[in-house]
Amino acid sequence: MEDVAGTCPEAANPSHDQRMLASRASCEAQKRLLRRAGKIDGKALLSEVACEPALSIEHVTHAYGERVALDDVSFTVARGSCTALLGLNGAGKTTLFSLVTRLFAARQGQIRVLGFDINRDPGEALRRLGVVFQARTLDLDLSVTQNLRYHAALHGLGAGEAKARAAEVLARMELSARAGEKARNLSGGQMRRVEIARALLHSPRLLVLDEPTVGLDINARASILRHLRELVAQTGLTVLWATHLLDEVNATDEVVVLHKGHILATGSTESVIEAQRAKDIGGAFASLIADPSDASAQAPS
Ligand SMILES: Nc1ncnc2c1ncn2[C@@H]1O[C@H](COP(=O)(O)OP(=O)(O)O)[C@@H](O)[C@H]1O
Ligand SMILES: [Mg+2]
Repeated sequence: MEDVAGTCPEAANPSHDQRMLASRASCEAQKRLLRRAGKIDGKALLSEVACEPALSIEHVTHAYGERVALDDVSFTVARGSCTALLGLNGAGKTTLFSLVTRLFAARQGQIRVLGFDINRDPGEALRRLGVVFQARTLDLDLSVTQNLRYHAALHGLGAGEAKARAAEVLARMELSARAGEKARNLSGGQMRRVEIARALLHSPRLLVLDEPTVGLDINARASILRHLRELVAQTGLTVLWATHLLDEVNATDEVVVLHKGHILATGSTESVIEAQRAKDIGGAFASLIADPSDASAQAPS
């Protein structure tokens, strides 16, 4: 499969739509070739085509009554990236995650997870998606392991597989020693790590987290981010996490800046800083949100 990975067309400075169209045309051609060569079997292996982004959001608009929370939002999240969805309170981050996870139906626009449209192919899309919501969702009276087993059953994992996977993900999140303990006895940061472990049980390819570090102390925040970046580096998982805390973003991350329902910039942290001629991501963010005429513009990615 590697021989097709590098063939996505990349024009010098294409618009987002041009890039999406070029990438899709190239992917369709690749799929045809692979099918003909007997290397791909219909849509089940479609996600293995290297050009499909982990997440593709195209022209998504969502309103609560008269209030437009997302206005023609388009961006992609590259596979194997650690991408921060940066936005102040009210930017539309949770609304976007609610659409990606199908809590709300996306009425306008298209959302695809590893190439699977969440409206047309929800089973395939959601199977590849792990979610940590903004609100805490552990059952505090159950043990850590019981919380994980319950979730594994919801995903259709058998008892043996659930046990093995639970041990694996708890070890990865450095929580093996707390497995038998009631969730309510854990610290806020440990609870968040249990929620991340739980979201990894069914081996998703894309993990989305809505403000996972809010309310945590500085050490717990650093620990969560370290674990997320290790997951990306060591397992090839794609992570998209929402935050309003600019100091959480580092040089190796990709960023998507969302403000008042509009995408203001996408790309590597470095490219977004450079495009704003800023010193750091905080400066770039301040300059992006200060200029209302940029509300529908995108920095090149
Ligand atoms: N259930 C809702 N009903 C009405 N308005 C909502 C609802 N949820 C969010 N909003 C509004 O939509 C906008 C985006 O909110 P949200 O997606 O929660 O942003 P964020 O997660 O970035 O803080 C805000 O103006 C918010 O007040
Ligand atoms: Mg929110």
